[in-house]
Amino acid sequence: MLARFFIQLIDAQRVWARPLGDFNHRVLVAIFGPLRFLKDFLNGKWLGHPVHAALSDLPIGIYTLVIVFDILGLRQAAWIALLLGILSHAAAAVAGFADYTDTDGRPRMVATVHSTVMSLAIVVYIISLVTRSDFGDQTLPIVLSFVGYGLVTVGAYIGGEVVYTLGNMVNRHAWRFIGTGKWQALDVTDIPEGVPVKARAGAQSLVLVRQGDTVHALHEVCAHAGGPLSEGTVVDGCIECPWHGSRFELASGYKKRGPATFDQPRYEVRQSASGGWEALRVTSGSAGVGEH
Ligand code: FES
Repeated sequence: MLARFFIQLIDAQRVWARPLGDFNHRVLVAIFGPLRFLKDFLNGKWLGHPVHAALSDLPIGIYTLVIVFDILGLRQAAWIALLLGILSHAAAAVAGFADYTDTDGRPRMVATVHSTVMSLAIVVYIISLVTRSDFGDQTLPIVLSFVGYGLVTVGAYIGGEVVYTLGNMVNRHAWRFIGTGKWQALDVTDIPEGVPVKARAGAQSLVLVRQGDTVHALHEVCAHAGGPLSEGTVVDGCIECPWHGSRFELASGYKKRGPATFDQPRYEVRQSASGGWEALRVTSGSAGVGEH
């Protein structure tokens, strides 16, 4: 009931959040376009985990400490904690902008509301920090800290909506375990050299790429946000997703380029006794599998 009310409240923001989100998207693409390595780093390809999610709890914890120090009258400790909170907040925001770049539709709109509220919060906290620098009357800075904490709480709720309800930066293969250990027939007869081909193995869709005598097979659904890998292109031994450009090594499923932070489930392919093709899942696609 309460959740439905919050969702309606968030959706009511689309009047301004949609155009602002589209504008932000254009700016972020212009910034990160030539800096792919930086975006990969901020997305968390190196960590096998979204960096924004790992950092975002830090400022919330530190801002909580600021309130405790303010209540206890520990002015210097509150000032230092507030400075650390703002720095960690800024770091989490930069990583968040990298993830935000690859959103579209409703996730982009909700992420825009999230980032706007969080940006307002950091501005309020910076004013609180500046106004408490002389350690004079602390009424205004303390009030501002409470206002900032309220904004951060609201912003964190909306950020949770982006991840838990809309599935942004969630591994699309989180529940896809290693498989039954049984070979399954593929519904293809012809696999041309170097061209991605979509095939079904039981309930699963795969993308097949033949390179010489070897047929590579990965799950068709991109681990990042569900893009169709069979509509992607083959580049340097990888398949590149057509949606946001993640690259997965054909031989291992390893993510060679973000924004995907998780590997792609990989399958072995062989010719069956009847002359057709069959596949066996060999990795689940969770982070670290096939790492090298
Ligand atoms: S869906 Fe985003 S890179 Fe594939």
